[in-house]
Amino acid sequence: MSNESLANLLKEDRRFAPPAELAAHANVKAEAYEQAKADRLGFWAEQARRLTWATEPTETLDWSNPPFAKWFADGKLNVAYNCVDRHVEAGNGDRVAIHFEGEPGDSRSLTYADLKDEVSRAANALTELGISAGDRVAVYLPMIPEAVVAMLACARIGAAHSVVFGGFSADAIAARIKDADAKLVITADGGYRRGKPSALKPAVDEAVGRVQGVGKVLVVQRTKQDVAWTEGRDLWWHDVVGKQSPEHTPEAFDAEQPLFILYTSGTTGKPKGILHTSGGYLTQTSYTHNAVFDLKPETDVYWCTADIGWVTGHSYITYGPLSNGATQVIYEGTPDTPHQGRFWEIVQKYGVTILYTAPTAIRTFMKWGDDIPAKFDLSSLRVLGSVGEPINPEAWIWYRKHIGADSCPIVDTWWQTETGAMMISPLPGVTETKPGSAQRALPGIAATVVDDEANEVPDGGGGYLVLTEPWPSMLRTIWGDDQRFIDTYWSRFEGKYFAGDGAKKDDDGDIWLLGRVDDVMLVSGHNISTTEVESALVSHPSVAEAAVVGAADETTGQAIVAFVILRGTANAEDAELVGQLRNHVGTTLGPIAKPKRILPVAELPKTRSGKIMRRLLRDVAENRQLGDVTTLTDSSVMDLIQSKLPAAP
Ligand code: WT7
Repeated sequence: MSNESLANLLKEDRRFAPPAELAAHANVKAEAYEQAKADRLGFWAEQARRLTWATEPTETLDWSNPPFAKWFADGKLNVAYNCVDRHVEAGNGDRVAIHFEGEPGDSRSLTYADLKDEVSRAANALTELGISAGDRVAVYLPMIPEAVVAMLACARIGAAHSVVFGGFSADAIAARIKDADAKLVITADGGYRRGKPSALKPAVDEAVGRVQGVGKVLVVQRTKQDVAWTEGRDLWWHDVVGKQSPEHTPEAFDAEQPLFILYTSGTTGKPKGILHTSGGYLTQTSYTHNAVFDLKPETDVYWCTADIGWVTGHSYITYGPLSNGATQVIYEGTPDTPHQGRFWEIVQKYGVTILYTAPTAIRTFMKWGDDIPAKFDLSSLRVLGSVGEPINPEAWIWYRKHIGADSCPIVDTWWQTETGAMMISPLPGVTETKPGSAQRALPGIAATVVDDEANEVPDGGGGYLVLTEPWPSMLRTIWGDDQRFIDTYWSRFEGKYFAGDGAKKDDDGDIWLLGRVDDVMLVSGHNISTTEVESALVSHPSVAEAAVVGAADETTGQAIVAFVILRGTANAEDAELVGQLRNHVGTTLGPIAKPKRILPVAELPKTRSGKIMRRLLRDVAENRQLGDVTTLTDSSVMDLIQSKLPAAP
């Protein structure tokens, strides 16, 4: 990325010091960076001692066959024991592990003692159904406690789970069952979404009918809706799990025992089955959950709004928080059911102290209006987290002001399905935060930005984000495809992990993520990041959301095309406003970044994990037939966008 264009981009100079009180009692202080730098492996060996091992590891990292890493290879542990039993043994069995809030308003709380019984019963049931260590189990469930129980039951017996997001189709389930060769599927009749029961089992029935090897389907009863039933194959969870003994002796497995496979779609090709293993993964999820959220398990109430079907749900609902003995909220439904204040009502009801959500949700709340959170008591909150995509500075400021009472630190956490746990993030008691920047690699993590020739860029420069040292929770391979693992992540830059994200370093050396490399535009020889143009647009009072793409252009190579959702009363037909927005981007970022076209739209196409599908917008901007829309939350959005489109100038 050329530095001259970067120099113009995003002059964000707002700074927020950590609250003094939080800093004074922070779990992790500034020394951690120095300590980890002086002895990186020693630092991780020390963090591994956060866990309870059946056999303590004496080796930390085996990197003799890169890029295939082994962490803590001679150690043995049981992941579920670490997430459940040991808290009960330590006298915390009465502590609530999960406050479950169903979408229709039903709720129940499970203590760590309850969770131990449930996980033990489920582990006994899996064993009875013929599942043993090394097998794979597919999980297709709504956001209910059984999802966590199912994952931990697999972990407890050494089977790997493959959780498939509940919004995915029969095709996606079938492909994942087949790729991982799963023997059992755990599903539910349905779950509640947007005020009504939404069926899950029909998709499983269809998928299982198409693949070989699934002997049993275990069905949780959640909505009590009618389900088709295949005798001999389908079993009710409450029958099979319900009758088991709550006693189960956890066996210790190798640190490198597969824990789960999670598929990432990527932009092209067949989904990649990202493989995570046990000891290193649990060490880093546990450490980062404690450090980045400053978790105090005795007093905090933590809430991560992600779905269990994404890695955020795996690492920061199931494994990180439970290994730390946290009390957390799990919410089944959507943020606007039955009203747009639902999240804030939940924060108030449970006294949530730590909230972890995504920029797409924050921008939606901004659009809905400041008055909605203002109706609720949010004073319990003390740390706010963000994950999933770059957070626009204006959304960051809104989050801090309207949710965080202008005092909660915001931790903008950069990581990926592949990294397994957080990699780049502020520490809430240490970092002076900058809106829109994930800032600095966490202690023990080595990240930098390089140019096309793999040279580290100086402060102020931009290029590609790379990870230069292996880390405990790194993916071990792509399931069944070592070569693709090497090609995708380790071949672009010799010896370095290529994350696929564009990034820049500011003058302090802090890292700003600029979105996927595929989303960087080349305009008249200048590299311009879609994220930065979007942030500039969102900083205008009339714009609620923006998505920017580069469309092929005869004169400039690519031209910037922006799709914007306007706020409240702003008028989409207003040519003057469009002119103002172009000028606003021009003054914020420099004339080169002015969009050639700005198209007001009612909605933007998003994947089910909340990421904008720029590929489809590029198709629109280039007047092409639309590509695959099956992973969109709502595929009618594209019809709406196309029907409103003015003719190209
Ligand atoms: C991609 C990974 C990490 C769990 C959820 C997404 C983007 C994620 C940030 C952030 C800027 C971010 C990157 C990354 N991303 N967090 N804080 N700032 N970008 O996991 O689906 O594997 O996606 O999400 O582009 O590569 P994922």
